[in-house]
Amino acid sequence: MILLKHFQKIITPFLLAFLLAFPGVAQKFENLAMTPPMGWNSWNKFNCEINEQIIRDAADAMVSSGMKDAGYEYIVIDDCWQVSRDSLGFIQADPEKFPSGIKALADYIHSRGLKFGIYSCAGRETCASRPGSRGYEFQDALTYAKWGVDFLKHDWCNSTGQNQKESYALMRDALYASGRPVVFSICEWGLSKPWEWAANVGHLWRTTGDIRNNWNIPDAKEGKCWGGGVIINLDMQQGLEIYAGPGHWNDPDMLEVGNGALTDSESRAHFSLWCMLAAPLIAGNDLVNMDEKTKKILTNKELIAVNQDVLGKQGFKIKDYGEIEIYYKPLHQGDMAICIFNRFNQPVSTQLNWKNFELQVNSQNKNLELTPTIDRKDIQLNDNYTIYDLWEKREIGTTSQVLKREIAGHDVAVFRLKKH
Ligand code: GLA
Repeated sequence: MILLKHFQKIITPFLLAFLLAFPGVAQKFENLAMTPPMGWNSWNKFNCEINEQIIRDAADAMVSSGMKDAGYEYIVIDDCWQVSRDSLGFIQADPEKFPSGIKALADYIHSRGLKFGIYSCAGRETCASRPGSRGYEFQDALTYAKWGVDFLKHDWCNSTGQNQKESYALMRDALYASGRPVVFSICEWGLSKPWEWAANVGHLWRTTGDIRNNWNIPDAKEGKCWGGGVIINLDMQQGLEIYAGPGHWNDPDMLEVGNGALTDSESRAHFSLWCMLAAPLIAGNDLVNMDEKTKKILTNKELIAVNQDVLGKQGFKIKDYGEIEIYYKPLHQGDMAICIFNRFNQPVSTQLNWKNFELQVNSQNKNLELTPTIDRKDIQLNDNYTIYDLWEKREIGTTSQVLKREIAGHDVAVFRLKKH
């Protein structure tokens, strides 16, 4: 009994020594998340107020709403499902909120043709003060494998004295040792620049603090902005495109589309930009009571195809005219996606010269004569392309002509260019 109780403490140093002696053994599961993971997570809408019915209903709604057909796959329970450990150290789900247990829930989600994700924390306790995995990594990974977990989001609260690289590598090794392929989502909010070290540890890593259900309000940690509303998190992705690719993605956090605070334009822009960034598309709204507008945004298949493109390139800014920006994302077979983003809160008229992506911007019939601060002259069009408008869902001409387009405040126009 005593031995079992201390199973984790005793076994971990041996496993660590073994893994250090045979570094080839320490690895993450390969060939997972070859395109950005898509799914739903309970946190943004429900926070701690979750139970098994809410999760089952979300799984049902993911299927009936067409989200599953559009590519959404993972149903992830975030914080607050767990309450304690038993006398042997095994993690216990809240018996009142999850009376059927996590295994039954996972089975249900699998029976709907979906995959099942769970949440834990590298620290002693989660952010909502539930038991974390510190000291129980291998035991928890075995439990998850037994339950049929396919995705683990691993947080970073209550981790004083720990080191990100070591803590996340330990959990990676634990997952790997358990034998069940699990997508490993690192959630340390970008603090240790995981894009620089996590490609062989996790499949995605948060690059920011928590997204907030607003457009542009920053959150500060130790006096520094570390995340916040949609465009705060968006701007923190600048320059990170070189670190993303199949199996390892930058994660600017989950979607707030459908959570009531963003306008239609902002919701469209949020979704489009996350698609351009090859960001994980994890919906965070109430799928059961989702309105048509939200559903239309979240299931825009042509935009999802941009996000899920097999080349796995993260899009980036090629022009920055201040409040007006152009994002570019190369796609397979020589296609590309272009997104014009209007940060002004009033409409602008734009004229785009496709060849060098130069933009003229008019507001109230006045040319704003904006000069770009970012101007990627190396990205040019040398051929003629057909243009498909990804929100109007129709072909609108070719790149041989200047594009004239009115764009509403906080909105986007997004195009897929196809070689003639
Ligand atoms: C942290 C994470 C969030 C969420 C909460 C849960 O803040 O960054 O995404 O998981 O914890 O407590």
